[in-house]
Amino acid sequence: GFIGSNFIRYWLSDNRRGKIVNLDALTYAGNLENLKDITDDPRYDFVKGDIRDRQLVEQVVFDYGVDRIINFAAESHVDRSIEEPGVFWTTNVLGTQVLIEAAKKSWKEKPDDKYDRAYQEGVTFVQVSTDEVYGDLGDEGSFHEDLPLLPNSPYAASKASADLLIRSYHQTFGMPVNITRCSNNYGPYQFLEKLIPLMIQNSLDDKPLPVYGDGQQIRDWLHVKDHCRALCLVLAEGRKGEIYNIGGQNEKTNLDMVRFILKALDKPASLIQHVRDRPGHDRRYAVDTTKIQKELGFSPAYTLEEGLMDTIRWYQSNQKWAKRVASGDYQAYYQRMYGKSK
Ligand code: TYD
Repeated sequence: GFIGSNFIRYWLSDNRRGKIVNLDALTYAGNLENLKDITDDPRYDFVKGDIRDRQLVEQVVFDYGVDRIINFAAESHVDRSIEEPGVFWTTNVLGTQVLIEAAKKSWKEKPDDKYDRAYQEGVTFVQVSTDEVYGDLGDEGSFHEDLPLLPNSPYAASKASADLLIRSYHQTFGMPVNITRCSNNYGPYQFLEKLIPLMIQNSLDDKPLPVYGDGQQIRDWLHVKDHCRALCLVLAEGRKGEIYNIGGQNEKTNLDMVRFILKALDKPASLIQHVRDRPGHDRRYAVDTTKIQKELGFSPAYTLEEGLMDTIRWYQSNQKWAKRVASGDYQAYYQRMYGKSK
């Protein structure tokens, strides 16, 4: 997928030791092309499979002797979770349970002793979650790691459920885990259905830019490479059992983002088309990132301007990729979502 493939490229380019096994079901949003350039790297292996497939997941964890797991696998698009919530539950919740259970089985010193809390040296499980689990924020303040979870969309509810499950594996079984909650990611290889790539692609194609409601909803934008760097820090130095927010310190309204993209591509504001708002649409997300800053020394390197310009240029020079991922099923999805506004 988007964040996972960026992470793998980041990890390998950082000349880290060890091998990466990428388990991906290659659903509509997963694409082998995202890692075409590193397919032959001896430090990298790809396994096609679904995290809900208990037998396969166990086999991968045991056969490779996997010692660290980062769970990027998720159905992640809020609009799709409104159309079809079921798959969000099976992949995001049951899939996570399959993965952590396989890890427990493989890593626990005495897997059959429920009182034993000893694990092999160096093993760790990172659950990549989202700020959306906290729910909707008012005009002021930001989400702190200790806040109660109040997810609003079926997507956010499934991620919140997975977070609680992972927490329970730490509390009950003593598993070495971390949960990370990132703000909205953007960057290369993001599937076109999400705000930034959708708006870039439609601008390039001179198509209307569908802005939900008044466009005054606020998101905090995090460049995917900054996210990957933060994940490496959590993986290496995160205190076990802890949750870390990861943010970009870039709060912007959706309309601001859309206007930036139009200006960068020299396209007219008349392409903006306000469409009916998303049901249950959260108005504002913002994360308090004091914890990861203080404990792990993380702060984002990209400014929003740099990151967005980089991303716009990437989509401009990867139109073959964009056109390929936009073919097939995506066309039907687009028609269902935006048909009337086309
Ligand atoms: P999205 O990229 O779907 O991320 P999320 O819903 O997880 O934050 O959407 C980001 C924001 O952009 C969100 O407030 C919804 C809005 N949006 C639009 O206005 N139009 C669109 O076509 C899309 C996809 C999103």
